[in-house]
Amino acid sequence: MDSNGDGVGDLAGITSRLDYLQSLGVTAIWISPIYPSPMADFGYDVSDYTGIHPLFGTLEDFDRLVAEASRRNLRVILDYVPNHTSDQHPWFVESISSRENPRRDWYIWRDAKPDGGAPNNWLSHFGGSGWEWDEATNQYYYHAFLKEQPDLNWRNPEVVEAMMNVLRFWLDRGVDGFRVDVMLELIKDAELRDNPPDPRYRDGRGRPYRQLLPLHSADQLEVHEVVRKMRGVLDEYGERVLIGELYIEMDRLMMYYGEDGPECHMPFNFSLVLMRWDARRIAALVDQYEGALPAGAWPNWVLGNHDVPRIAARAGRAQVAVAAMLLLTLRGTPTMYCGDELGMEAVAVPDEAIQDPVGINLGPGFSRDPSRTPMQWDSGPVAGFSTGQPWLPLSADHENANVAMQSEDPDSPLSLYRRLIALRQSEPALMVGSYAGMPAEGDIIAYVREGGGKRFFIVLNLGADDVSFDLPQGSGLGSVVVSTDVDREGTDVFEALEVRGNEGLVIALS
Ligand code: NOJ
Repeated sequence: MDSNGDGVGDLAGITSRLDYLQSLGVTAIWISPIYPSPMADFGYDVSDYTGIHPLFGTLEDFDRLVAEASRRNLRVILDYVPNHTSDQHPWFVESISSRENPRRDWYIWRDAKPDGGAPNNWLSHFGGSGWEWDEATNQYYYHAFLKEQPDLNWRNPEVVEAMMNVLRFWLDRGVDGFRVDVMLELIKDAELRDNPPDPRYRDGRGRPYRQLLPLHSADQLEVHEVVRKMRGVLDEYGERVLIGELYIEMDRLMMYYGEDGPECHMPFNFSLVLMRWDARRIAALVDQYEGALPAGAWPNWVLGNHDVPRIAARAGRAQVAVAAMLLLTLRGTPTMYCGDELGMEAVAVPDEAIQDPVGINLGPGFSRDPSRTPMQWDSGPVAGFSTGQPWLPLSADHENANVAMQSEDPDSPLSLYRRLIALRQSEPALMVGSYAGMPAEGDIIAYVREGGGKRFFIVLNLGADDVSFDLPQGSGLGSVVVSTDVDREGTDVFEALEVRGNEGLVIALS
């Protein structure tokens, strides 16, 4: 929400919409980076870790947001971007100034190979080599993302200390936790060895970055020590949350809960974001994830974020409601992306209007802009998001798909989200109860959640055809508490159940 008409969302805008967030039922908000930044990667290129970009407001606006959120029992989680700074950060300005500068070693500098080439074959996520040549000091520096985002050297204890103080700065200001950007890559191989080719990579499919397996540039064992330090700082403050952005295979992901001491409370589980929307695969994956969790580890599920296509684009419009029910009835903390509760779709952004550097470097098909368009509040001009020209175009259907209209419609995605969140928050079975997958075939996913003396049976139809399905054995009667088709709520079901196409049901078992 933009409060000052410049077309960009800001802190005062968020504060003005806290009542909406409260009515939605969410209990915490994660805000992408709000710090001073040249915006080469929309805030993920930070030039001052302890300030606020004027586009987003001031520290006073931030304090007000935290105070107002706390009054409503909403937690505020910040995005912490430790892998890289902006090339405009004073630390890098010093580092690049000369080889002798005391901050030279705060970043990753290396000589060229004898033939003048880059020190190794590592690639940037955003296209091309991960190394940039600096003519003035005759060395390369490493950047896992844009060349405007040089990687910090986390093997340098001064960097570690400075970055721990950044956490303290915001914790002292009352934030409730952090989502840690690119946690996986903070530590690089000490010898900077070449990455091997990925045999699964096929030309022209996916980002060129995927040609190599990031064996030596990511997920090094020593990173766990860094994460333990971060957790240690959070623990100095009592109940705070550490969430890691970790795109990695499941067994490796589990290590970020911490094997030699606590690390993340929640290593983000991106399985639902990455996989094909297919019932058999999802059902198998949920069982795999549940089985892989270390003892005592708390699960979590992510359905969307600002980097991936929206759920309406990944699963199809007809599945938006089923996806919501899956996210909000699985065991573990759900993370939803702003606007997905309206079923917002991928918005077509004309090639010449692309903002995302990934779309610009790798081609429009890679652009993340379609998921980043303004939130649709009402049927007014600019969907109530701004009084000015928004930084990205609005979706074509904003006059119909918006908070004001969907609030009035009990059959809307927004109303379903509200009912599901309310149920989840009030029923221990869904909030903290056990999970048991049920045998199912074809497009059906079914499971039971149990706790607080209650049992809920969840059945989801990921296909368009009606299917009949039996309640779990021994439960003669059930009552539909929430359905994606609101007309079915409150009805009783007996042993055999007709599940409509694209329908999901939460059934209280007697
Ligand atoms: C992950 C963030 O979510 C993404 O938006 C960003 O471009 C990269 N990390 C680099 O910071």
